[in-house]
Amino acid sequence: MDFKVGVFDSGIGGLSVVREIKRLMPGQPLIYFGDTARTPYGPKSLEILRRYALEDANFLIQKGAHLIVVACHSAASAATSLLESKLAVPVFEVVTPSVAQAVKLTRNSRIGVIGTRATINSRIYDRLIPERLDNVRVFGMACPLLVPLVEEGWINKRETRMIVKRYLRPLRNKQIDTLVLGCTHYPLLKQVIREKAGKGVKIVDPSEEVARSVYNFLRGKGLLTGGTGGGNDRFFVSDLTSNTQMIVERFMGKGIELEKATFS
Ligand code: DGL
Repeated sequence: MDFKVGVFDSGIGGLSVVREIKRLMPGQPLIYFGDTARTPYGPKSLEILRRYALEDANFLIQKGAHLIVVACHSAASAATSLLESKLAVPVFEVVTPSVAQAVKLTRNSRIGVIGTRATINSRIYDRLIPERLDNVRVFGMACPLLVPLVEEGWINKRETRMIVKRYLRPLRNKQIDTLVLGCTHYPLLKQVIREKAGKGVKIVDPSEEVARSVYNFLRGKGLLTGGTGGGNDRFFVSDLTSNTQMIVERFMGKGIELEKATFS
């Protein structure tokens, strides 16, 4: 039996994680759920995020997922322990592998994290990074304008570059040498972020990190499916509009067929 990987996000940003999973394990069957009807999660309360995360994960399990990847940082910061306690399947999420990588990369123990308000306010990185590295300083910066800019496709516009520069200036002033992209949308802005973060600042991309940990887990358990994939992956969204389809193409190129999720 093929082991199905379920990935959920508040919307379509989690496709950055799918892209990496498919790059590492093209044959592994995958089910995606993007909660486009209730996005964005970034400004939402802890209570709502926990409820949504549990519903999203259960939807994937009903559709046959054997493992859950929380691709949304806002949901992961709020609900990982809840999901681990309530679900009978392994749970992977985007925060922990990025923490491990940041700790490995930093030389001056000054790490910056950018994300939505929910993620930065959860202070999850401020908690997890010092558990792995003594005398580390963690500097968080909420960047609420970046998600809409990515969704509008304003990847390399002058305005976007100015906004990224403005958000990163305080982190540069703190002399960070490592920057965690704490939001699923940010890998699409990686080039601009790299440029504005300053020379020599190492960028931690959560989509690469979580895909690698899922890969290591499946390989360790002998659950990897070989091959290049037979097109059986399914992509569900809770609201389907032409704009959603357009943004999906921005993340993944053409060829993804979205299905409207119906909840029983
Ligand atoms: N997926 C969210 C995250 O990674 C960003 C978009 C949203 O705010 O819902 O935090």
